[in-house]
Amino acid sequence: MNKRIWEFFFVLAAVALMVVLFWRPARAPEPSPSKETPPPTVGTPRPEPTTSTVVYTHAAKEDFMNAKGMAGWEETLQTPIPEPSPERLKKGAKLYQDNCALCHGSVGKGDGEAATVLDPRPTDLTRIKNYKYGHMELGVFRSSKYGIEGTGMAPWDGILSNDELWNITQYVRFLQED
Ligand code: HEC
Repeated sequence: MNKRIWEFFFVLAAVALMVVLFWRPARAPEPSPSKETPPPTVGTPRPEPTTSTVVYTHAAKEDFMNAKGMAGWEETLQTPIPEPSPERLKKGAKLYQDNCALCHGSVGKGDGEAATVLDPRPTDLTRIKNYKYGHMELGVFRSSKYGIEGTGMAPWDGILSNDELWNITQYVRFLQED
C-alpha cells in the first residue's frame, strides 16, 4: 500500500471520529414540566402519606354527637384518622369477614349466622339511617373499638389495633349504600 492510501484512511478515520463525538440528532424541545406534577427526581424522598392527619369535617363531628357520653367518645376525637387507601380497604374487608360478619353478615346486612339469637339484632350496616351512634368514620370507629353497652356489640379494644379498626371502618363506610 502506498502512502496516499494510508493518508486517505487516516483522514477518513479522523472524520468518522469527529462525527461520533460531535454529531447529535436534533431533538424536539422538552415540554416544560407543569407545576402540579414535578418530575420525580432520583434520590428525592416522596412525602409519606399523612397518617397523622385528623380529617374531622363538620359533618363527621355532627354525626358523632349521637354517641356523646358513650365509652371512648373523648378518646375517639383525639385519634387521628389515617388516610384511606385501597390497601386499607382490602385489609379492612378481610378483617371484617374474620371478626364482624358472624353477626353483621358478609355484606353488612345484619344477617350473620349469630344474628337471630341477639336482641337487639346486629345493625344492618349498609343503611345509614340505621346507625344510632354515627355512621361516619368517628362513629363506626368508636362503636367498634368501645362497643355498645347492654348489647351483643362487644368492645374490640385490645383485640384489634387502632390501625386494624380504621381499616375495618373504611370497609364499613364502603358497604354503606344510602
Ligand atoms: C356478637 C355479634 C357482633 C359482632 C361479632 C359484631 N357486632 Fe357490631 N353490633 C352487634 C349488635 C347486636 C349491634 C346493635 C346494637 C344496637 O342496636 O344498639 C351492633 C352494632 C354495631 C355498630 C353500631 C351501629 C349504630 O347503631 O350506630 C357498628 C358500627 C358495628 N356494630 C360494627 C361492628 C364491627 C366493625 C364489628 C367487627 C369488628 C362488629 N360490629 C362485630 C353485634 C355484633
